[in-house]
Amino acid sequence: MTQSQPLSDQRGREKHKLRISLTDRCNFRCPYCMPEDPVWQPRERLLSFEELERLSTLFVTRLGITHIRLTGGEPLLRKNIEHLVSRLQLLREQGLQRISLTSNGILLPKLAGKLQQAGLDDVNISLDTLDAERFLRLSGGRSTPQEVIDGIHAARAAGLRVKLNTVVIRGYNDADVLPLLEWAIKEDLPLRFIEFMPLDGSGQWSRDKVVSEEEILATVGRSYQVERLAAGKEPATYYRLNEHYSLGIIPTISNPFCKSCNRLRLTATGELYACLFSATGRDLRGPLRESASDQQIEQIIRGHVWTKEAGYAVSQGYVERPITMHALGG
Ligand code: GTP
Ligand code: 5AD
Ligand code: SF4
Repeated sequence: MTQSQPLSDQRGREKHKLRISLTDRCNFRCPYCMPEDPVWQPRERLLSFEELERLSTLFVTRLGITHIRLTGGEPLLRKNIEHLVSRLQLLREQGLQRISLTSNGILLPKLAGKLQQAGLDDVNISLDTLDAERFLRLSGGRSTPQEVIDGIHAARAAGLRVKLNTVVIRGYNDADVLPLLEWAIKEDLPLRFIEFMPLDGSGQWSRDKVVSEEEILATVGRSYQVERLAAGKEPATYYRLNEHYSLGIIPTISNPFCKSCNRLRLTATGELYACLFSATGRDLRGPLRESASDQQIEQIIRGHVWTKEAGYAVSQGYVERPITMHALGG
């Protein structure tokens, strides 16, 4: 393994996790994630697999990234994604420890086996309700909960570790907290509830729609005995329910975890965002296509990461910027 200087920002936070968005396209239209009529990036602007492989190699070997998570839009819409995973797999010897995916799950019955064989370790799957009607509203009229459940089962059958993500929004799916939790416990699947973040594309976010960690815990506490577990390095806080099941809650709004943030994000068009809430990113596609050397690109990345803002913890509220969650990959 090559030794590299840690990639750090001016607040001493080292970066070890890179989230790579493979496409801004999605087969859902979740209103909490994208505008009603999204305009997709033209294909020629997307980083090619060769460009992604070059950047990933550089991030792992020169910058100390140990975890790569592939996101979207819906990353499984990117053709031959398993080929990219098999190329990332080659970086294990050089320090890459995990290759993960975040997906809406519905293409997993077709792809889970291929992805596992290519080297994928785990997949986080979004499931916001088990109610068919509410699901249609939340997915933008695109699918059914059963299709997602089929994807979850396919991923598990293929040997991938699975976690569920549920964004909780008041007036949409706050009534689904307990049914989803009961279902996840029955299926023995880890579940994380996520506070609604102000990064949706349709301006629907408002503070009163956020169902906070405290409120989720109050709901859960009516049916389960709840014990808070020691804090780890993840964004989620974990709770032990009835002494056996671990429930996660990602409290970005009510209790931001920016002080320990170890993540970076690359958009499908090659912009590096140091924070989920940054107003702008740093273009890497230009330098890549203008034949910059690895050393030059490394310096651009280090310089950009160094200036990373404190995060949502200090500048709260709606984020006005040209791209929304669907382009940044969550
Ligand atoms: P693992 O910790 O590897 O399981 O992945 P993850 O939870 O980071 O990934 P996932 O794509 O499942 O994201 C779950 C939720 O956490 C999404 O709503 C993300 O936007 C949010 N999230 C992930 N990383 C960060 C972060 O650094 N800051 C904030 N504020 N939210 C994050
Ligand atoms: N707030 C919180 N989580 C969100 N996600 C998408 N948009 C938002 C939002 N506005 C979640 C998705 C997925 C993950 C990548 O991000 O549900 O699980
Ligand atoms: Fe990291 Fe920014 Fe999220 Fe805070 S808001 S945890 S700094 S990505």
